[in-house]
Amino acid sequence: MNEPILKVATPLQTPAIKLPNMSNYWVPFTANRQFKAMPRLFKAAKGNYFTSIDDRQILDGTAGLWCVPAGHGREEIAVAVAHQLRTLDYAPAFQSSHPLAFEAAERVAAYMPAGLDRIFFTNSGSESADTALKIALAYHRVCGNPLRNKLIGRERGYHGVNFGGIAVGGIAGNRKAFGNSLAGIDHIRHPLDIANNAFTRGVPEDGGVALANEFEQRIMTLHDPATVAALIVEPMQGSAGVIVPPAGYLKRLREICTKHGILLIFDEVITGFGRLGTKFGADYFDVIPDIITCAKGLTNGVVPMGAVAVKREIYDAFMENSAAGAIELPHGYTYSAIPIACAAAIATLDIFAAEKLEDRAAGLSQYFESAAHSLKGLPMVKDIRNIGLVAGIEFEAIAGKPSAMSFATYLKCYESGIHVRYTGDIIAISPPLTIEKHEIDRIFNTIAEAIKSIAAAGDAGLDFTLYLKNEQEWAMHQQSIAEDITISESANLHHKNIALEHLV
Ligand SMILES: Cc1ncc(COP(=O)(O)O)c(C=O)c1O
Repeated sequence: MNEPILKVATPLQTPAIKLPNMSNYWVPFTANRQFKAMPRLFKAAKGNYFTSIDDRQILDGTAGLWCVPAGHGREEIAVAVAHQLRTLDYAPAFQSSHPLAFEAAERVAAYMPAGLDRIFFTNSGSESADTALKIALAYHRVCGNPLRNKLIGRERGYHGVNFGGIAVGGIAGNRKAFGNSLAGIDHIRHPLDIANNAFTRGVPEDGGVALANEFEQRIMTLHDPATVAALIVEPMQGSAGVIVPPAGYLKRLREICTKHGILLIFDEVITGFGRLGTKFGADYFDVIPDIITCAKGLTNGVVPMGAVAVKREIYDAFMENSAAGAIELPHGYTYSAIPIACAAAIATLDIFAAEKLEDRAAGLSQYFESAAHSLKGLPMVKDIRNIGLVAGIEFEAIAGKPSAMSFATYLKCYESGIHVRYTGDIIAISPPLTIEKHEIDRIFNTIAEAIKSIAAAGDAGLDFTLYLKNEQEWAMHQQSIAEDITISESANLHHKNIALEHLV
């Protein structure tokens, strides 16, 4: 027997569960010690469901990490990727390429708002954000304006984890551990206004233009607008807890950027590919930025890929103003437009075209909204926000216990077979666009039951050690195996043999 096997009794469904050794993997954006004490592991996924390691069906209320809009296990994508792997696995991304890269770019361009039809491929949302910022800086330089080099982001903005992205990003916890930020960065205020807009259904009506005008005041007061290269915002701020901009806000930002020659970048890593019931947030709000970044849904989450779409004039400026034979943009990744990602993106766009997933999302959004807002009045619920197929449920903060209520809700839902996401004191719901009405009911009913039972249990309800008992048993068992391996020389040898067997 090569792998640790835990024999478990009820309520687990399977007689034996194979557990991974959890020592080596440093789990990203995760409280590792806590997670490894009660791991939530998935072993399969199909449609709108995961299969957990203990063989339970877990309804995916988050489309993975906002990235599986067409549902899991899409055969069309698997076939396309498998075929591509066997045909052309890799072609050098610099100074040579392959036809599928051009086809993927053509398809992505056709999916973008009109005019944003020059496509740069990356491997993630973070890389897309940094690529967009670099393009903005280089664009002004190539146009003869090298002093236009400041970048403006927004409080509570999330643009991934690379240095550019965290500099313009506005989530303190993601910035403060990493030393000095980039120079020449500023932020505008975020548009969340719970005092005035709590429990708004969809887009809040008031305050948008005034808030956007603050951006202009800020750049006039603190910067010379002629020194600002770009403003980057998410049309709807997802990671920081579903912040829906008020009416007129994005339009006004567009006007201000145009007036001052500032590029407007929409980070559509979450809002792209149907999440709001339109192709992009730009379509939903009828505001066309100069640059759009995307990732996640581009390949339905199965192969890492991001894209940066720029207006044709921006691309043309590089082509027209660079010396003949020069590399116009010294930037790119080994895996930019890797063939399997192109195959996955094309197959994903085919699914969107065939199933009109954006329209499906739009058609469900009212139902989804009503289901989400049915939680109003439950204990601790301070605000509910929604747009398209996204909802955020914000809890009252508990002094000294940040995230305790949302984490307990998440764990309770997981126990009950629903995967939700918690971020700060907020639960975020963003199911695959293939979700059915009865599944929407199940998601919000389960969250409601979770909130009620946690509130009824008082302090014990917030004690996360009381949740996921099975998972905790697995983890303890796991730990004892790991300890055996470390202290015993022969066990060490045995462990190495296991590793070797896994390699062949
Ligand atoms: C708006 C936005 N930008 C960028 C990113 C980073 O994407 P990735 O994790 O693929 O680097 C995310 C991820 O959630 C996002 O929501």
